[in-house]
Amino acid sequence: MEQLKDHLGRTFKTLRISLINTCNMACTYCSYSNEENQKNHTESKGKGLTAKELMNLIAQLHERLNFSTIRFTGGEPLLYKELPELIKGARKLGITDLNLTSNGLLLQKQVPALKAAGLTAINVSLDATDPLTFFMMGRRHGLDQTLKGIDAALNAGIAVKINSVIMKGMNHNQVIPLLKYAADQQIIIRFLEIMAMGHLHGKADEYFFSQSEMLQLISTQYRFSPIPRKQAATANYWQTEAGNIFGIIANESQPFCTDCDRLRLDVYGNIYGCLSNDQPIAIKGVSAPADLDRRLREALAQKQSIKFTGSKLSMLHIGG
Ligand code: GTP
Ligand code: 5AD
Repeated sequence: MEQLKDHLGRTFKTLRISLINTCNMACTYCSYSNEENQKNHTESKGKGLTAKELMNLIAQLHERLNFSTIRFTGGEPLLYKELPELIKGARKLGITDLNLTSNGLLLQKQVPALKAAGLTAINVSLDATDPLTFFMMGRRHGLDQTLKGIDAALNAGIAVKINSVIMKGMNHNQVIPLLKYAADQQIIIRFLEIMAMGHLHGKADEYFFSQSEMLQLISTQYRFSPIPRKQAATANYWQTEAGNIFGIIANESQPFCTDCDRLRLDVYGNIYGCLSNDQPIAIKGVSAPADLDRRLREALAQKQSIKFTGSKLSMLHIGG
């Protein structure tokens, strides 16, 4: 079958799977309110896919798209019990890059099973090195647990990067401490501009801290120079004089839509071609290759041409 491509030459090379729409944190930029404080942050609207159903969909999509990368997200993907089985199954299909984006709270205990299953790399969300700010951002305690999870992954030889969402007036004072922490650990950190998703759709401006503000702040302490951007990368990267690499994911001020190569699968078996699109395209139960092909073309047509506009869908649902 001919390769799927749109008018900008974009195709799907990375599959992002939201395994579960429940999270054990309730971050201010993701979750609605403080009411969520006492319980898991969830937006369950029915039963998600079983691991068997999910594995079948991964196999079908892989047969058509022959992608080499899967990123498991959520909600919090470490709450999905069969994650190691999925990693093993995907590896058997010949998919070589099996990555995870997690808040790291449950990581320490799960590292041995994830390593044994063949996990390649983890992006850990960490918005502060100060416990109070960590709590203010995530509405959960657990900074130590997250840091221990990162150490365990690194000790097991799993590559780790840090994602830090920066909100003006909330944690922008954490940029320098986070950079120092990442430099000490010899890992890459990426700072994220806040995105207008879910409850922040149309309302993210008051917290918006831009790439240029971040660079300005970092330049008060470090000298750094840019690193050429890789095709389809979410982040722009820089290297400090000491050799440490940091990135900024500037979805709002410097979107990277024109070479985006991601396809998303949600917990109900719907695909989306773009983080800015909230129209689900069901592929659960679709078995005819021509039918799947038509739906993948629909998803490809959802990709934005220039600008990331955000959507009312929560990151919890569509997976960051
Ligand atoms: P690496 O391959 O390690 O660079 O991972 P990644 O950056 O692709 O994945 P991660 O889960 O760490 O995502 C971090 C952030 O990148 C997300 O929170 C989004 O801000 C942004 N991002 C990821 N995928 C997309 C996408 O398809 N479109 C847009 N606009 N932003 C995305
Ligand atoms: N803006 C920016 N980043 C967000 N994330 C979740 N919601 C938002 C938002 N509104 C981040 C998480 C995680 C990544 C996948 O997405 O912190 O690191």
